[in-house]
Amino acid sequence: MRLDEPLDYFLTRRGVGTWASVRQLIQQQQVLVNGIICKHYHRRLLPTDVVNAAGVLIKDDIDTGTLICFKKVGYACSHERKDAPLLYDVIPRHYQHPNLQTVGRLDRDTTGLILLTIDGMWVQLVMAPEKRCWKRYRLAFSGILSADAQARVCSGMMMLDDPRPCLPARLELLGHAADGLGLATMHLCEGRHHQVKRMIAALGGRVERLHRDRIGGLELPTDLHPGEMRPLRGDERVRLFEMPENV
Ligand code: URA
Repeated sequence: MRLDEPLDYFLTRRGVGTWASVRQLIQQQQVLVNGIICKHYHRRLLPTDVVNAAGVLIKDDIDTGTLICFKKVGYACSHERKDAPLLYDVIPRHYQHPNLQTVGRLDRDTTGLILLTIDGMWVQLVMAPEKRCWKRYRLAFSGILSADAQARVCSGMMMLDDPRPCLPARLELLGHAADGLGLATMHLCEGRHHQVKRMIAALGGRVERLHRDRIGGLELPTDLHPGEMRPLRGDERVRLFEMPENV
């Protein structure tokens, strides 16, 4: 577990229950730290502490509180039933938790790397623009982008329907696919609604395919196939906050 992590926070993150039910468990003297009943929600943990809740050893080798997913086309990152089919519907039963939320969103027709977590504070670390956690999108587009497209992206461009300029980002043009579409990567450290599509539209193109393959230093793992998800490993959690050099 993380150094100095409060006991109730740790148990919630590990999927033992909701914040309230975890606290109830502690109140009912069902939680032991190093074999001794602990009645303090805020007890700060050391990485070497051994925690039992309701007779079960709560390990922290894998983090079922955070899932890594290869989103496939067709699923909405929404909790609204009217938007079904939902990404939340395809979470395997043993990973389901009432507090699971996606870390940012991908559009229904966007594929690739998305994280889900029960840890709201962690969402901020990955998504808040000031944290500079860069996301890489690979896209295929139709149309012809303006000649100064890369410079505009780089200097913080305007989108057609938004009064605020985007934060400086990076666009790489990669030639053309066999079907004639233009190929590019876009690196963003913010996540406005449909941002890549709106930026490309403002530059004169139209996104036809969009795929996210990296968040921070974490690439979409090759062991995940479209539609699959699994707990995020400790080394992957670390890599997420290691910024790649080529952003
Ligand atoms: N930008 C978009 O336009 N769509 C996504 O799904 C993600 C980023």
